[in-house]
Amino acid sequence: MRIMILGGDGYLGWPTAMAFRCAGHDVLAIDNYFRRRIARETKSDALIPTPLLAERAAVFHQMTGQSIATVEGDCCDFEFLSRQFAEFAPEAVVHYAEQPSAPYSMMGFAEARNTLTNNLNATLNLIWAVLEHARDCHIIKLGTMGEYGTPNIDIEEGWIDIAHKGRREKFLYPRQGGSLYHTTKVMDTDLLWFYVRIYGLAVTDLMQGPVYGLSTEEADLHPALVPNFHYDDIFGTVVNRFLVQAVAGIPLTVYGKGGQTRGYLNLRDTLQCIALAAAHPAKKGELRILNQFTETFSINDLATRVQRVATGMGLRVDVQELDNPRKELEQHYYNPAHHGLIDLGLEPHFMTDEVVAAMIERVQAHRERIVVDRIMPRVRWK
Ligand SMILES: NC(=O)c1ccc[n+]([C@@H]2O[C@H](COP(=O)([O-])OP(=O)(O)OC[C@H]3O[C@@H](n4cnc5c(N)ncnc54)[C@H](O)[C@@H]3O)[C@@H](O)[C@H]2O)c1
Repeated sequence: MRIMILGGDGYLGWPTAMAFRCAGHDVLAIDNYFRRRIARETKSDALIPTPLLAERAAVFHQMTGQSIATVEGDCCDFEFLSRQFAEFAPEAVVHYAEQPSAPYSMMGFAEARNTLTNNLNATLNLIWAVLEHARDCHIIKLGTMGEYGTPNIDIEEGWIDIAHKGRREKFLYPRQGGSLYHTTKVMDTDLLWFYVRIYGLAVTDLMQGPVYGLSTEEADLHPALVPNFHYDDIFGTVVNRFLVQAVAGIPLTVYGKGGQTRGYLNLRDTLQCIALAAAHPAKKGELRILNQFTETFSINDLATRVQRVATGMGLRVDVQELDNPRKELEQHYYNPAHHGLIDLGLEPHFMTDEVVAAMIERVQAHRERIVVDRIMPRVRWK
């Protein structure tokens, strides 16, 4: 297939580009380095330096003999994106090109506007580029489990049947994002659903939980091929943060009571899920929603696990309960369905102690680059 990756320089985009290329597909990776720029602006640089996209593609070529086409450009520029679709004529496009940080979206007006305009314009432009140049192209869009929030009922896979006064109808499952970032993902889903039902697009919207890990078959070939790894309060996800805190000897920062429960998955499983979605496309006129995670943990579960494994490796790890900078339930019911990807063939890699230990070792190799004043939360939901 001809597969376009929007956000190809990102944590997920780069490993996806390599995996598709090694599976024999033609790949075009597009990125405008938006994340690198806002990470610099917020003093949130990644732990491990990563070369720019074209340089990484050159290293990938040296290691595998395979080529990934790369283009620097902004998905919010419709003329640019439209030209890429006209020239490359993708059969599938994976849309990762969004501002992915909840705390960044809550910093202030400028960051809120950046998040809203970037995420919604990129999605609208993608839809129109498909409509104008690649009508049969399967759109694989990254949503987030955070779109559902933490309702006190079971979370279904995207849709819910509602019986009301003796009649029934199927609707998008109710969604309530806990940050402006999550709210833009909810709006993306609504936008996609509108264009699916009116224009007959084929869309898979993947409600993904937080991803962890640095290791994939291709990323392990050379240090320059590693994905970006953030551990600060703005771009670092909780697993990365706990690993770095354990290595740096900083107590693990549990926000509030630590009962916040989410569905997590290994980076290797993200790659499997995207490959499965591409190999089994949504039908025309279908918005297929799949919940993309493999196991659920509370923050306290994660802290205990990292503490146990790190202690076994000779590190001294304490856990500290911080005043929660976010507005969220700290103890709640959480039972999301997630059978769609398993039915397609997903074989999960779970977060075993060995997996945690391997990630700690990777962080230890870059220990001298940890900047400790990037650990405590700088952004409050108020
Ligand atoms: N990483 C996770 O745990 C996770 C979990 C759930 C959902 N997601 C979603 O997956 C997607 C990718 O996440 P990630 O962790 O790889 O984030 P990332 O920031 O590392 O990657 C996103 C990439 O998109 C690029 N980008 C953003 N706006 C762009 C634009 N207008 N034009 C061109 N490029 C642009 C950025 O520069 C960046 O390289 C996001 O949509 C995110 O919301 C990620």
